[in-house]
Amino acid sequence: MADVEALKREAGIEACKFVKNGMKVGLGTGSTVKHTVIELGSRISEEGLDIIGVPTSLATEKLAKEVGITLVELSDIDGLDIVIDGADEYDPHFQLIKGGGAALLREKIVAQESSAMVVVADDRKKVETLGAFPLPIEVTPFSHEATVRSLSRLLDCRVNIRMSGNGPVITDNGNMIADAHSGPKISDPLTSESEILMIAGVVQVGLFNNMCDAVVLAGSNGVETIINPNGRLI
Ligand code: 5RP
Repeated sequence: MADVEALKREAGIEACKFVKNGMKVGLGTGSTVKHTVIELGSRISEEGLDIIGVPTSLATEKLAKEVGITLVELSDIDGLDIVIDGADEYDPHFQLIKGGGAALLREKIVAQESSAMVVVADDRKKVETLGAFPLPIEVTPFSHEATVRSLSRLLDCRVNIRMSGNGPVITDNGNMIADAHSGPKISDPLTSESEILMIAGVVQVGLFNNMCDAVVLAGSNGVETIINPNGRLI
């Protein structure tokens, strides 16, 4: 089996082909898209690529600054041309689970403001039905135990607050992450997304429905770009 880190790098770099001079680019979060960010930085310094970026997390903001990408606030521009981001799972309809890196809220805001979304992934992320990867849900710290109970009842599965050491993971937005262990049963992600968002303590859910236009997928046979036939890159 090919080295996973090498696959992530291949996918991350290949996705840069979607980025052209003058573009406003959303910069995702994670160990795959980090290679995209680094490559874009190299192209800026070596080829004079002229882009501006909007990061989806403090970690990506730090990396983007280090590699020399000019960053702006989403509030200061009128939308983005493209966002490139990782995913934890994608299904045959290009619906995604994201949030493994706890950045789902900013990632979803940035994706929503983008004219196109390209996902970078290795072939472990491809699934028939979403949910083997525990579904990340950003929740308010206030009464989070009650929110977790409501989620558990709704989804009929174990839901736990994500921990780091002795304390909960705190997102860049000061919230917590609840992970829902439904198993690969999320066959109607649009309904699941709306039902989860009805719970008051939920800030956002890591189901990214009808957002992904292409997946740049690296596997042992190389990298392929799979275009969503119902997407915006057709
Ligand atoms: C962060 C995310 C990541 O994009 C997702 O977890 C994939 O990360 P990686 O490329 O490290 O596997 O959603 O919130």
